[in-house]
Amino acid sequence: MPLHRDYRLLDGPPPLADYLRLRLDSGLSPKNEAQGAGALTGSWTFRHVVDTAGDVVGMGRVIGDGAWYFLIADMATLPGHQGRGIGGAVLDALLAHIAEHAPSGAYVTLTADPPGRRLYEQRGFVDVAPGRTGMHLVTAAPGSR
Ligand SMILES: CC(C)(COP(=O)(O)OP(=O)(O)OC[C@H]1O[C@@H](n2cnc3c(N)ncnc32)[C@H](O)[C@@H]1OP(=O)(O)O)[C@@H](O)C(=O)NCCC(=O)NCCS
Repeated sequence: MPLHRDYRLLDGPPPLADYLRLRLDSGLSPKNEAQGAGALTGSWTFRHVVDTAGDVVGMGRVIGDGAWYFLIADMATLPGHQGRGIGGAVLDALLAHIAEHAPSGAYVTLTADPPGRRLYEQRGFVDVAPGRTGMHLVTAAPGSR
C-alpha cells in the first residue's frame, strides 16, 4: 500500500514530546523524558511521518552497529491514521537505509506485536520459533526493591 498523499515521510527523529505521545497513543508502553531523549539521539537511523498540518502521526527507528546487527524499534502510527501506508512507508525507508549503508548480510531483528506481524511478514521477516525463542529482560527501577 503506497503512502497516502496527505502524508510526508521525513528523515530523522520526531520532537521528544511527539515521540512520547506517539508511543502512548498507539498503545506502546509509556517512556519518560530521559528514555525518550536517549532514543532520539542514540538511534542509528530514524523516520517519522507528518500530516498536512505538520503533526507527527507515525514513526520508526533502527538501533544498530552500522555493520551487521540492526533492531527495528518504535514502529507506531496513531490509531486514526493506521491502514494508510504509514507503517509500511516507514519500514521500507528503514530497510532501504540498511541496504544502502550496511554491508550485505545484515541481520535485522524485531519483536512483533500482533498489529505489526502482517506488515513485517510482507517484508520478509520470519518467526525465529520453533528453533529459537525471543527473550527479554527489563531492569528494575531504582528503589523498587
Ligand atoms: C503496526 C503499525 C505501526 C502499522 O502501521 P500502519 O500505518 O497502520 O501500517 P500500514 O498502513 O502500512 O499497514 C500495514 C499492514 O498492516 C495492516 N494493519 C494496519 N493496522 C493494523 C491493525 N491495527 N491490525 C492489524 N493489521 C493492521 C494493514 O492492513 C496493512 O496490511 P495490508 O497492506 O495487507 O492491508 C500500527 O498498526 C501501530 O502503530 N500499531 C500499534 C503500535 C504497535 O503495536 N507497534 C509495534 C508493532 S511491533
